[in-house]
This record gives sequence, C-alpha cells and structure tokens, in this order.
Amino acid sequence: MFKIIIKDNYDEVSFEAFKVMQETLTSKTNPVLGLATGSTPVGLYKNMIQDHKAQGTSYKNVLTWNLDEYIGIPRSHEQSYYTFMHENLFDHIDIPEENVHVPLGETDDVAKSCVDYEKSMEGHTVDLQVLGIGSDGHIAFNEPGTPFDSLTHVMDLTEQTRQDNARFFDGDIDQVPTCAITMGLGTIMRSKKIVVIATGANKADAVHGMLKGELTTDCPASILQKHDDVVVILDKEAASKL
Ligand code: F6R
Repeated sequence: MFKIIIKDNYDEVSFEAFKVMQETLTSKTNPVLGLATGSTPVGLYKNMIQDHKAQGTSYKNVLTWNLDEYIGIPRSHEQSYYTFMHENLFDHIDIPEENVHVPLGETDDVAKSCVDYEKSMEGHTVDLQVLGIGSDGHIAFNEPGTPFDSLTHVMDLTEQTRQDNARFFDGDIDQVPTCAITMGLGTIMRSKKIVVIATGANKADAVHGMLKGELTTDCPASILQKHDDVVVILDKEAASKL
C-alpha cells in the first residue's frame, strides 16, 4: 500500500523523509534502519545530522544495514558506498562503528560476502528502509530482470545505471564499476516500513512504473506494490507522469 506525498522541491522532499525517519527513531528503543546511497538521500541525512547536533537525537542504539556496494573499488575509494555513508552520515552522528553494516565488495570471495551479509541480518528486522529509485526502475542495485524473491547477490550494472552514476566518477563511464553486491528484492521486502524518495524528471517513468505500472521484474520497483507500508515522497517533476 502506497502513501504518496508530492512536494515542491528537493528540500521539502528531504524534510518530509526526515519526518518519517524521526517517527521510527522516536517510536523504537532499538531502531533498525536500512540505508541507501546516491544523491537522493543526502538531504535526508543532512536533516538527521542537524537534528542530532541541535536536539541531541542519539544513534547509540541504532543498527543500520546499507543496500549495496560496488565491486572493483576498495572501501577506501572516495566513491565507495562505505566512504559515502561515513562522509554523509555516520561520521557526524554518534552511531558506533560496530552498529553499521555495508556489504563488502572488496573481497576475493564475493559469494561468501553475499551469504555473510544475509547472515548478519538474521534476527533483525529493518524498521524503516530508505530507498531511492534508478531511472531504469532499479531499487538498491536490483536491475530489471532480478527475481522478486532474490536475496543479497551480485549484479551486473546496466549501461543506463553506469551512465547515470558516471557523474560521481568525473563523468567517465569507464571508471564506473561494472558490478555491485546488493540486497535482493526479497531482502528489501522483509522491511516493516519503506520510504522511497525520488526527485527530478529523469525519475518520472520509473516512478510511474513503480506506482501505476504492471507488477513485473522489468520494473523492479513495482514489487513495492506488494508491500503494505510504503511512503513515496516525490517532487513535482518525479510525479509528472502519474
Ligand atoms: C543506492 C541505491 C540506488 C539509488 C538509485 C538512485 O544505494 O541503492 O538504487 O538509490 O540509483 O540514485 P540517485 O539517488 O543518485 O539518483
């Protein structure tokens, strides 16, 4: 079931997402968060940091699992999602390092890394999963064609995704890794609540596919039609095809 909220601009979208986050943080003693990277959630994370500094909201009892990580660049790389999360959130709040989980893409045994990541989540249920959406309808790095019941797995990135993400790699698609380790769609669907954030006209088709399109692995985000608690926060451009 979707609750759709449409706001005027990115800042308002980010603040609305923060309100959903705040509800989870204040209503649970040990909140479990699923977190995303990319441009979209940066504004949400800024709100969380500001609130932590101004109101003292503590993350000492919070556990986090990130959605995905590139394969082929080390954790220390400036564009790894491990680095991204530290720079954009973890380094600015009081979350203990042992409470944060980012898939390990820097490994000789990526199959084991996938299994280990699923195992690390055993006994925990994500209270709130933050999602962005790719222009090709991906959520996490589950590209079109990914089975709906997939668990953490290795994914070849589509040309479109690599093109979209080239902006983080000096605009050079050749520098963008070709594959990633990602939570599966089945993994994501276990979350109790999901907040999807999307802004910009280049997300309009994917947003339409997620909310109004047919339920098909061609648009991985359409699986969210089967979840009973999804808040979708959009700006007018991303909502323009609804
Ligand atoms: C990132 C992730 C991706 C992004 C999506 C949108 O962890 O899982 O699905 O959410 O590619 O990226 P942005 O926000 O950069 O447009």
